[in-house]
Amino acid sequence: MNMHILGTGSALPSTVVTNDDLTKYMETSDEWIRERTGIGSRHLSTGETVASLAIEACNKALENAGKKAEDVELILVATCSPEMMLPCCACQVQAGIGASKAVAFDVNAACAGFLFSLNTAYSYLKSGMYKNALVVGAEVLSKIMDWEDRTTCILFGDGAGAVYVEAAEDEEDTYSFVQHSDGVKGMVLKCGTRDLNNPLYKGEEQSKFVWMDGREIFKFAVGQIPVCINEAMDKAGLTKDNIDLFILHQANKRIISSIAKRMELPEDRFPTNVERVGNMSSAAIPVLLDECNRNGQLKKGMRLVLSGFGAGLTFGASIFSW
Ligand code: UT7
Repeated sequence: MNMHILGTGSALPSTVVTNDDLTKYMETSDEWIRERTGIGSRHLSTGETVASLAIEACNKALENAGKKAEDVELILVATCSPEMMLPCCACQVQAGIGASKAVAFDVNAACAGFLFSLNTAYSYLKSGMYKNALVVGAEVLSKIMDWEDRTTCILFGDGAGAVYVEAAEDEEDTYSFVQHSDGVKGMVLKCGTRDLNNPLYKGEEQSKFVWMDGREIFKFAVGQIPVCINEAMDKAGLTKDNIDLFILHQANKRIISSIAKRMELPEDRFPTNVERVGNMSSAAIPVLLDECNRNGQLKKGMRLVLSGFGAGLTFGASIFSW
């Protein structure tokens, strides 16, 4: 069994906020943000929700694949910023697109969430349990940002990306992946949700916003991701010369450039869109994949590495042929 991505789609909020726009709300500058992160603008929600963006991305992915929602068997939504704790976003997507036969649930592995969801879909398809899936990464991170913490809030954006995947039963398997978690270091990037509020509880309130030790995250990404990609290539019996494109989590341009340098690879093998959309956590990889698909950068037979890393800590790399 092999798994193919047959269609991609993405959705971004209509409002674009440039670095200069941010200077109206905080002490910052276009120069500081660009130099440290490579980010020039991001889309921020003025009403779009994780579910509405995910639904739009899924409808576009189905249209791109030429498939019908009623035939979808599995929907996985990776998100760490859903509007609702219940029902899960994936069930809202199921209702929104009319995929009445599908099983739907969410996955939270932060910025590695889409990658882990794609690997989960592959594992279900490989087991023979389902024949196809919609895999989505969707975030409205702007609602969990502390807009008074200029070191963190300037990095992130809102958006959603989706892929439609299908099993090719008789084909040789070319999909391969490695994935890791390091919970011991997890508190370097965190966000609380609800405090215990029963009448017996007397504890302190937690922050409901994202807090990050930026330098530690930087070191983690630049240190671990080349090792992780090499591990995935070894597992697949491939070398970096066999890979056409490396589609990495779009955390910031400096991280991607450092990874390319450590791997002794030219940066043009690492497409980016972080300049225009910022870091969209689980949505980053599928939105970039959709852009590469629609602008003709992806040719049949190309070998791609996808690599995600983020809160948890979670990280991994997947390799497959387009
Ligand atoms: O999905 C994973 C997501 N996380 C990441 O990608 C984070 C990775 N980390 C980074 O990219 C960098 O650590 C940051 C871009 C977040 C921060 O860069 P840094 O070089 O580590 O800056 P810093 O936090 O050490 O701050 C340096 C200076 C400080 O001023 P002083 O103390 O030197 O006077 C900050 O107050 O820059 C100041 N600063 C800012 N200035 C203008 C912090 N944020 C800003 C800002 N605008 N937005």
